[in-house]
Amino acid sequence: MARTHVLAATPLCELLGCRHPLILAGMGGVARSELVAAVSAFGGFGILGMVREPLALIEREVARVRALTDRPFGVNLIPSGTAHALLRSQVDLCIALRVPVVELFWDIDEDVIDRLRAAGITVVHQVGTVHEALHAQAAGAHAIIAQGVEAGGHVRGRQPLLRLLPEVLGCVDVPVAAAGGLADGRDVGQVLAMGAQAAVLGTALMMTTESFAHEVHKQRLVQAASRDVLLTEDFHINWPPLAAVHVLPNAVTRGERGDPFTSERQVIGEEEGRPIYCFSTDSPLRSMTGDLQAMALYAGLGVGRIDDIVPAAVRLQRILQAAAAHLRLVAEAPGALASPVCYAAEVQQGEQAALAGEARALLVLERAAALGVFDAWRHAAQVQRRQCLQRVLDAQARGCAVLVRALRSADAALPEGGRHEEASASGGDASMEALQRTRGDLDERWDALLPRLDAALAAEARQALEARASAWDGLAQHLQRV
Ligand SMILES: Cc1cc2nc3c(=O)[nH]c(=O)nc-3n(C[C@H](O)[C@H](O)[C@H](O)COP(=O)(O)O)c2cc1C
Repeated sequence: MARTHVLAATPLCELLGCRHPLILAGMGGVARSELVAAVSAFGGFGILGMVREPLALIEREVARVRALTDRPFGVNLIPSGTAHALLRSQVDLCIALRVPVVELFWDIDEDVIDRLRAAGITVVHQVGTVHEALHAQAAGAHAIIAQGVEAGGHVRGRQPLLRLLPEVLGCVDVPVAAAGGLADGRDVGQVLAMGAQAAVLGTALMMTTESFAHEVHKQRLVQAASRDVLLTEDFHINWPPLAAVHVLPNAVTRGERGDPFTSERQVIGEEEGRPIYCFSTDSPLRSMTGDLQAMALYAGLGVGRIDDIVPAAVRLQRILQAAAAHLRLVAEAPGALASPVCYAAEVQQGEQAALAGEARALLVLERAAALGVFDAWRHAAQVQRRQCLQRVLDAQARGCAVLVRALRSADAALPEGGRHEEASASGGDASMEALQRTRGDLDERWDALLPRLDAALAAEARQALEARASAWDGLAQHLQRV
């Protein structure tokens, strides 16, 4: 009989109201009611991709999800990709419809977050950098999605997921989910093992029978290899400038349709009377006709590892099983703790526990320091000072990431959240002074921890600490000059 595995629900699952730590990415056009309901009914968390959609469509799609399942779901909106008046009414509508969760992406719009929170809506923010994660948290997001550069569609940051994720986990204290290139159970198991509280699936769930992507797009995805995927700014109409997307190659990316930025607008398709322009961010949907191959054929870097179109429940079940099996294998792997001599194993366990305790205590302090640096950045008016603080924050995040990895490799939990509101209330210069005072203490703690980390982690920690020392020196010199 086949073994069934389950993935434990996480605090983020509790916050969202789902059973499994698997989230459908809020893909514009593609994640409509049929797919969202299928994911939520399965026990994952479905998010309707409603960027720039008119109110009537949002209302209809929300009603359809509710008719198909009684499980919770979310709505994705993109403030900076939406005209101001439409955005306002989209938010009003989400509030009026009592949508339980709204997921936001791209620039952080503090007013929108405030309004959603005040209405009791859970806010999830997708981000591409640690800096943005801290900003979203400070603005009130209840949870963060760390998007790695492997993601399909719009790509916010440039760091690979496995580098970004531990940095974000180390620096924020709200729950963090991981997105970008997650194609199978092993990928999902890996990010959960690292401490993510859920995996966000875009491309993998676009390749399902329920997704609203056009069959032409789905078939291109089935045939694609990961090396085919391109990062380009060619598809820009409807979006803030300089926004890169991951797509499969087509006439546009080969330059056969002219210059995306200087060519006259050409209509290449239609959706229920609405023109679809060449170089726009629209991807081919079931409801569209026209030159579908010339539209944005979004794909994440995991696409080469998925070769079929199946019902969402089948994809999710496969991922769930394989991810749970991966986590079990990691937990049972013969490693430091599996000594044949019981006494030695106990000693090692004791050492691991002590190491984890110290790493966690240091991470709490480093996290508070990262928050302090971010807070100082927010209050800094001068560009140069901001640049110096940004360098400090980048180095700080690298140190936090080492601690996250040390904790996870000892199978220890990350510190609980809840400190950020109190820490960020301190104000810019006050937090800078507090930081300067704690630097010595942090260095001493690192000195004690470094010899006990494994060699690779210790080497990374040393590099991060050197980078931080040099960034602090740069900041000190700047402060002397002004
Ligand atoms: C077809 C497609 C459309 C997307 N549209 C949106 C969107 O409207 N809003 C959003 O926040 N993210 C959007 N994304 C990005 C996803 O939120 C997520 O980061 C990405 O799908 C994760 O990478 P993966 O596709 O490799 O799983 C889109 C992604 C794809 C593939």
